[in-house]
Amino acid sequence: MNEASPKRGQRFSGHLRLWTTVAAAVVFLVPFILFFYAVELDFGLRRVLLLCALPCVAAGIAGALAIGSYAQNYLERVTAQMQKALALAQYRERERDLAQDELVRRLQEERELTRQKMQFDLQLSAYEKYAALAQLALGAAHEINNPLLGILSHLELALKSETDAEAREEIEQCIAGAKRISATLSGLINYARPGPLLLSKINLDRLVDETFNFLRHQPMFRGIELRKQIAPGLPAVSADANQLSQVLMNLLLNAAEATAAGGNITISAEKVKFAETIEVRVADTGCGIPADILPHVLEPFFTTKRGRGTGLGLSISHAYVRSHGGEIHVDSIPGSGTTVRFTLPIRQQGATVSEEAEVVA
Ligand SMILES: Nc1ncnc2c1ncn2[C@@H]1O[C@H](COP(=O)(O)OP(=O)(O)O)[C@@H](O)[C@H]1O
Ligand SMILES: [Mg+2]
Repeated sequence: MNEASPKRGQRFSGHLRLWTTVAAAVVFLVPFILFFYAVELDFGLRRVLLLCALPCVAAGIAGALAIGSYAQNYLERVTAQMQKALALAQYRERERDLAQDELVRRLQEERELTRQKMQFDLQLSAYEKYAALAQLALGAAHEINNPLLGILSHLELALKSETDAEAREEIEQCIAGAKRISATLSGLINYARPGPLLLSKINLDRLVDETFNFLRHQPMFRGIELRKQIAPGLPAVSADANQLSQVLMNLLLNAAEATAAGGNITISAEKVKFAETIEVRVADTGCGIPADILPHVLEPFFTTKRGRGTGLGLSISHAYVRSHGGEIHVDSIPGSGTTVRFTLPIRQQGATVSEEAEVVA
């Protein structure tokens, strides 16, 4: 049904009235005319007949008009009902469209939720993998570290009593190797169990200065400019000073290893808008990290520095930042440089903080 239907109904009822009138006229007039001419009547009788016939014709036409207008009323009622039904159908159609839209929206939402759930599941299984690895590493590290410390003290005793230069050199090499193993194991233990946080209020500006002063004279920082951009009025953060300075050291060492002389490394820190969080960035102008390597740099033991690196610097930093309730992200453009960003809550929930404003670096 469409908009033209009521008009068509009215036109139809007009036609109906016309045709019923014509039919009534034909029904009354034709037999009369036939009778009038076919039957031989004298003039007087014809006149009487004519006089009788005229009211009959008028009554017929009036009857036809009455039937026509009744039919018209009926049609108008039907048309009104049809219009109502049409409006109802249109309303139902609109409701159905709305319901369809809602259904599509719900389906999209559900698909998005399923995608997020899959992502969380993947993340969870990665964390579970790391947790299992960390437990394993912790056990192995303790098992290895204890006899290693015994070996180390024996080697140091042997070095003291040894006079032969060649033998001394060999013992020194053994001691250096054992110390390297011990350092790696300590890193592992730190990664697996960062330990309770010893919180104090830390002035980041001073911590960065101290870290720069400590590292500036190391050979790998030669020719590299160290820059500091700490937002004025940055609030002190409640954090474990040792862990925080170790994070900064690890990031600075990585940056220096990737940056050639003439490049620069910038540490910047500012408060995150509308959050009680501070974001620290360590940006370098070094070689950058290829896109296929980038997703793995936070994994423990992942290193591209064969024989030199332990692959624990970033993963331990990650563990430390997470134990403060922060997050760490690595962005890099190969050939242009790398930026490691990490966040730190200004206050630690439910923790007691020593009130000293001094940095315990
Ligand atoms: N600033 C950086 N520039 C380039 N590559 C980096 C940088 N920081 C980290 N990486 C990459 O991430 C890897 C893992 O770093 P890390 O966990 O500190 O271990 P390691 O330094 O012992 O290799 C490095 O081997 C290196 O490939
Ligand atoms: Mg490193």
